Amino acid sequence: MHRAAGWVLRGVRNPPKTRSRSGTARSPPRGLVYGRHGEPPAVVQLKDLEVAKLGGSDVHVKMLAAPINPADINMIQGTWRTRGVFPEEMLLKVPRDIPVLCAATLSVNPCTAFRMLTDFESLAPGDSIIQNAANSGVGQAVIQIAKASGIKTINVVRDRPDLPKLVERLMALGADHVITEEMLRKPEMKDLFKSIPKPRLALNCVGGKSTTEMLRHLQPKGTMVTYGGMAKQPVMVPVSAFIFRDVRLRGFWMTQWRKDHAQDPAGLASMMDSLCQLIRRGQLTAPACTEVPLQDYQAALEAAMKPFISSKQILLL
Ligand SMILES: NC(=O)c1ccc[n+]([C@@H]2O[C@H](COP(=O)([O-])OP(=O)(O)OC[C@H]3O[C@@H](n4cnc5c(N)ncnc54)[C@H](OP(=O)(O)O)[C@@H]3O)[C@@H](O)[C@H]2O)c1
Repeated sequence: MHRAAGWVLRGVRNPPKTRSRSGTARSPPRGLVYGRHGEPPAVVQLKDLEVAKLGGSDVHVKMLAAPINPADINMIQGTWRTRGVFPEEMLLKVPRDIPVLCAATLSVNPCTAFRMLTDFESLAPGDSIIQNAANSGVGQAVIQIAKASGIKTINVVRDRPDLPKLVERLMALGADHVITEEMLRKPEMKDLFKSIPKPRLALNCVGGKSTTEMLRHLQPKGTMVTYGGMAKQPVMVPVSAFIFRDVRLRGFWMTQWRKDHAQDPAGLASMMDSLCQLIRRGQLTAPACTEVPLQDYQAALEAAMKPFISSKQILLL
């Protein structure tokens, strides 16, 4: 059982020769595979792989880097590999000038952030949004894309020993406010809304208490979009939020968006172009990350499952 993780990396039309241009022998394609479900460090193994023969419109792709996302861990289906053959329509070329760590992390988190900021509320410069798990890969992209559009962000994170360092890092990315989940419940929140409007959009990656508290600060008729459930707890909404504030609860899944827009390559290309332009202008960077050589994958898998790491593990393939 294995799955190709990347679909955006630089494609080459010709199959690799046994020797590179510099004359050095090319290593055989390898990938992380697993044969049964279990804890990823225990069940995932690095193996030599066979690359399928090229068909009419297939593209032989050499992978350069791939992130370990929570979805990979949760489903234990993400298998990271150095090469693979995919139908051309599954692939999207990333322009050469996009740094490899940005390219490796582009297709999931920044796209999710972009869609959630675009598709649910029409936000204008000066409007605000609120999000939890703001230090996640998605959260960091939300902060940067919102900043580039003049939208203020209120960013909720879990308390931790090195909180000031994390706050400083998110502020440097462009966050307007960084607060802990505990602060969400405090009366001082009123002071925060003296300088910025109450949010029209809330982005929920957590569930449980964090979400209920965040929802209290949403404007009447505002929208909360749930895209993750890191706390593994349901979303609890007080009935007053529906009756007196008419809040809207929505969900988002990037995979579904892609399926729904399979016949709209222009929509996808336009989003990727907007994101690449932000990257070129230095307004969107790769998330804080740790680059890990492929053979150290066990350490990377363990780190990806630890709390408060605040660093995306990127396998260098
Ligand atoms: N729906 C979609 O289309 C879509 C797309 C992309 C991602 N996602 C989902 O979004 C989530 C984040 O993905 P990512 O790649 O951005 O993750 P990531 O960079 O690895 O970050 C994980 C985040 O979750 C937080 N977290 C972990 N356990 C938590 C808990 N028990 N309570 C509160 N926060 C907790 C972490 O905070 P600490 O630093 O405090 O540990 C961190 O902010 C995942 O659930 C993923 O499946 C969904």
